[in-house]
Amino acid sequence: MLPAEVLKQARNEILNWHDSGMSIMEMSHRGREFTSVVQKTEADLRELASIPENYKVLFLSGGATSQFSMVPMNLLRKKKNADYINTGIWSKKAIKEAQKYCHVNIAASSEDSGYTYAPTQDQWALDQNAAYVHYTSNETIGGVEFNWTPDLSYSKNNIPLVADMSSNILSRPLDVTKYGLIYAGAQKNIGPAGLTIVIVREDLLGETVQNTPSVFNYKIHADNSSMYNTPPTYAIYITGLVLEWLNKKGGLKEIEKINISKASLLYDLIDTTDFYNCSVEKSDRSRMNVPFTLKNTDLDTEFLKQAQDCGLIQLRGHRAIGGMRASIYNAMPIEGVLALVSFMKEFANNHA
Ligand SMILES: Cc1ncc(COP(=O)(O)O)c(C=O)c1O
Repeated sequence: MLPAEVLKQARNEILNWHDSGMSIMEMSHRGREFTSVVQKTEADLRELASIPENYKVLFLSGGATSQFSMVPMNLLRKKKNADYINTGIWSKKAIKEAQKYCHVNIAASSEDSGYTYAPTQDQWALDQNAAYVHYTSNETIGGVEFNWTPDLSYSKNNIPLVADMSSNILSRPLDVTKYGLIYAGAQKNIGPAGLTIVIVREDLLGETVQNTPSVFNYKIHADNSSMYNTPPTYAIYITGLVLEWLNKKGGLKEIEKINISKASLLYDLIDTTDFYNCSVEKSDRSRMNVPFTLKNTDLDTEFLKQAQDCGLIQLRGHRAIGGMRASIYNAMPIEGVLALVSFMKEFANNHA
């Protein structure tokens, strides 16, 4: 979801942005008008997420999937190994790409359990010679979230922590200093599809694997203020509006409180009835994506149909795992979750 206020503002500005006589979509990405948009978007993101000066913010295209390759291409820095934590379908995809560039050490994995938990850091078998440690802070499909931040500060080798935050970035306060690099496709919590945000510590830039194309080189993007090639301008503009909306809501601390309330409403209902089930360990449940199943899977189709009739849409689970999934990103108002909970209660009563 995108906030309705943002979509309304975008609608009002679509033909003529701030009396420029143009739509954002028609502007030169290097022109004065768009430069002001991108600069404000970056400044707002820096303020919201307290991003220190020694980190670059890059606005790229290519999706989070492109980062599965760009991370090893740019962060291996002559090393041959990288550590990955395998907690679900997205970490697995990241691992598969990284294996094209280096030896991947699976430092921890919850695959055996069917990806129902996030291994605690004392279960991570880290390689002291790894170029970096990669984890997926929220597994969008499985609904497994790290509700804690890994800490590699003890490691003598200063190994950078890398996070795929595609589906929980800006849903709670974060300590950027704990990371070497954070990446996220914007389309879940930040804006529309097409924009990929990378936040990377400056000292990690500059050395890429041989034959890395320029367009995959972070340093080139950083040196060109994300204007090495044409960035996804409209997606950046909408992102800017979402960041302003988030600021008005009170920033990350406030949105976290709302996200906790929304997720608790759903999990509480799932846990208090036998009719529904969520197999993810309680401590590692995602505040953004709530996967659940019906005990009687014969009712799945009926559940989805009746939900749709009530305006409760896109509840079908990912094709890879089936069941249901309620994605309740920042822009989903609590009223949306209350409507779902009330529908689920009624459905359970009618089919018990
Ligand atoms: C955690 C995570 N990583 C990576 C991706 C892939 O993102 P994209 O489709 O932008 O390449 C997704 C998409 O849903 C995701 O949820």
